[in-house]
Amino acid sequence: MKQSVNLHSALASFDQLWSPRVLAHVNDYDVRVAKVRGEYVWHAHDDTDEFFLVIDGRLRIRLRDGADERVVDLERGEVFVVPRGTEHRPESAEGASILMFERTGTLSVGDRHEDVPDHIDATTGHPLDRV
Ligand code: NI
Repeated sequence: MKQSVNLHSALASFDQLWSPRVLAHVNDYDVRVAKVRGEYVWHAHDDTDEFFLVIDGRLRIRLRDGADERVVDLERGEVFVVPRGTEHRPESAEGASILMFERTGTLSVGDRHEDVPDHIDATTGHPLDRV
């Protein structure tokens, strides 16, 4: 990274929901930020854990392992890691801004997922507009 990036300016630079922007690279990982509202799709990343930090708002992550389903509710400032291979579905009734660590090249909808509706962007992350 040649210049510093401001997290809040980065978030202010786009409005699209469920469409992560790459804020920085760390070794072979991306630091991605996204705005979310409503429900994502059930999906799993077979080979990588997924780190979430809630920057603003509230995020609920539903997790399931076979027939067992549980819910993790995250407030602003809270961190949670979805273990690799675990099916999960993030959602936010009122909207949230989140930060994720993802191995570079990780598809946002995972390796296994439900049908992806139009309002969800299946992506490995978009570059940030210069902010
Ligand atoms: Ni995921």
